Amino acid sequence: MKIVNEPFGVTAQGQPVERYTLTDGNCSASVLTLGGILQSWTVPDRNGAPTDIVLGFDSVGAYEAQDCYIGALLGRCANRIADGRITVGQQTYTLACNDNGINHLHGGMVGFDRRIWKATVLPDGLQLQYESPDGEEGYPGRLSVTAIYRLTQDTLSIEFFAQSDKDTVCNLSSHSYFNLGGHASGSVGSQMIQVDADRYTPLASNNAPTGEVASVEGTPFDLRQPVRFDAGWDSDFTQIALAGGYDHNYIPAGDGLRPFAQASCPQTGITLTVTSDMPGVQLYTGNFLRDDLPEGKQHAKYDRRHGFCLETQFWPNAFACPDFPQPIVHAGETYHHITNYRYSVCP
Ligand code: BGC
Repeated sequence: MKIVNEPFGVTAQGQPVERYTLTDGNCSASVLTLGGILQSWTVPDRNGAPTDIVLGFDSVGAYEAQDCYIGALLGRCANRIADGRITVGQQTYTLACNDNGINHLHGGMVGFDRRIWKATVLPDGLQLQYESPDGEEGYPGRLSVTAIYRLTQDTLSIEFFAQSDKDTVCNLSSHSYFNLGGHASGSVGSQMIQVDADRYTPLASNNAPTGEVASVEGTPFDLRQPVRFDAGWDSDFTQIALAGGYDHNYIPAGDGLRPFAQASCPQTGITLTVTSDMPGVQLYTGNFLRDDLPEGKQHAKYDRRHGFCLETQFWPNAFACPDFPQPIVHAGETYHHITNYRYSVCP
């Protein structure tokens, strides 16, 4: 694997942003020091044509002008916390409700997606580090976070480590929007999705899980066999209608590193297989992407459902749902998770 870096631009506050490009065989992936954003991932389609399979932008200003977390690392806590209320030990904290004033979402007003990370080239990957000060976005404890991107011939992996000086919340994820037809190819409706999970966590009207764990059996959430995204995303099934499509946490069976999901594009043959050791995965079909997004890479026009996300994570809203695994890292412990995105082509 080879890694090169170049200047990418400057933030509104004057901070320089670098782009690091990892190349291995005929795949390459670019990562920004802004938000640890995966800015591109180019792989050959079944005819060998280089195809960039993640949505992204060509300028820092465009990333700053959108609020869809495109390609970014998420923290300290991915997804929603109803009313912004967390409990760590005996203490309750109230965090900013940056999601329609009712939930804390993806780490708050200025989450890890908008921070500048410190990059170090390792022999086998790109290390990004961010020191989140005690009290940042209302969270207790100073949290030292490391994310390592690696690219081998066919697998892009993100490994996270974190340590805190006080017990705190830690639920790190990545918010890439994949489009296996190529980032500029429009809706992902005709692409195929399979999620290796029997259960999911239904949402309340605030789009945060209720605490219930439901079976996928007999519902549009049953993706155990591959189906087109558009077979289910406009269903009038209450949970789909509520979220305007798929925007739900699935619970892959078992624990440890295991299969989570597979998606593929019939036109390009490009297939993505996700494995992780996280407790859950949010399948989000870009229902809130809008046509007023900044112009995408190479003048691409992005709109609703032009990408899908598979955000490996702790189950959302865990603080209001005591039976859910709690995303707490204790002082002195090391938080550690890994997610692998493996590329292949089907004939
Ligand atoms: C959430 C969506 C949200 C999106 C932000 C996803 O993880 O589940 O509801 O709109 O992130 O772009």
